[in-house]
Amino acid sequence: TSPFAPRHLMSIADLTPAELSTLVRNAASHKNAVKSGHVPASLQGSLFGKTVALTFSKRSTRTRVSTEGAVALMGGHPMFLGKDDIQLGVNESLYDTSVVISSMVSCIVARVNGHDDVANLAKHSSVPVINALSDLYHPLQTIADFLTIHEAFPSSQTSNVQGLGLEGMKIAWVGDANNVLFDLAIGAMKLGVDISVATPKGYEIPATMRQIIQDAAKTSPKAGSLIETTVPEEAVKNADILVTDTWISMGQEAEKIARLKAFEGFQITPELAKRGGAKEGWQFMHCLPRHPEEVSDEVFYSPKSLVFQEAENRLWAAISALEAFVVNKGKIV
Ligand code: CP
Ligand code: NVA
Repeated sequence: TSPFAPRHLMSIADLTPAELSTLVRNAASHKNAVKSGHVPASLQGSLFGKTVALTFSKRSTRTRVSTEGAVALMGGHPMFLGKDDIQLGVNESLYDTSVVISSMVSCIVARVNGHDDVANLAKHSSVPVINALSDLYHPLQTIADFLTIHEAFPSSQTSNVQGLGLEGMKIAWVGDANNVLFDLAIGAMKLGVDISVATPKGYEIPATMRQIIQDAAKTSPKAGSLIETTVPEEAVKNADILVTDTWISMGQEAEKIARLKAFEGFQITPELAKRGGAKEGWQFMHCLPRHPEEVSDEVFYSPKSLVFQEAENRLWAAISALEAFVVNKGKIV
């Protein structure tokens, strides 16, 4: 790579613990400023005259709305390119597409199927590429998730400015071992948060990913730990936050019947939290879109649920990431 090679955001694994904390803190501070009526001077017009391409091979509500909105707030032009809009995948190679698009825009935000697609896009792009979900990672979601946790646990806000003050907290993930979990677990390791993962037998974290998560722990002086089980009750024990995601990710539709059967007993309910012994003040998170089998309405629409705040936080996470990777050229300060 040349000294001018852009810095990309493929996964939370690309960030140091301090950089992840900074992205979350910047997101929080921009959120507070904009909501109290003033757009920080550092953001105003910061993407003026620049185009950000949003190339999406899969559906999206939150990622599309948040990234388009973020570019607009920063004075740039978001150019949405859905899979039926461009030649990619039908009539043109990923290499050609990457070289051509990156020659005309300032950033590519890409939602892909296999992670190799976004990695190859980045490899050949002359501008920063931000992964907007691949089958392995969803970094923008993780930044929004730690912003949500930071807001929901005010004790973390008084802590040292270096980290996020979340050390010692426990997340319980009950559900599928998927892209959203992988980046969340990597982030947890870096921020000193313990994560306990319950998946059905046969749906565990793949060995290569387990290694990547454990390697993330080595990047942090105060690392979190990863615990795995096939028993949901075990995972929720002493947890501060219960999290899940869809059991059937985009692209897995053909496995629907088998998956619904395999995940029986994994629905997050007040009874599960009680049986397992989650902490009294436990909160619930879900990246959305949500289906009732994963979490009962009783939890999803309860005061314990952070889901809509978490969804809104995607906007502030997108602003923070665009500021770091595009405006500040990969310098996260
Ligand atoms: N959470 C999330 O990424 O949602 P979308 O698929 O709607 O973007
Ligand atoms: N795991 C889900 C997340 C959607 C935001 C998927 O990949 O479809």
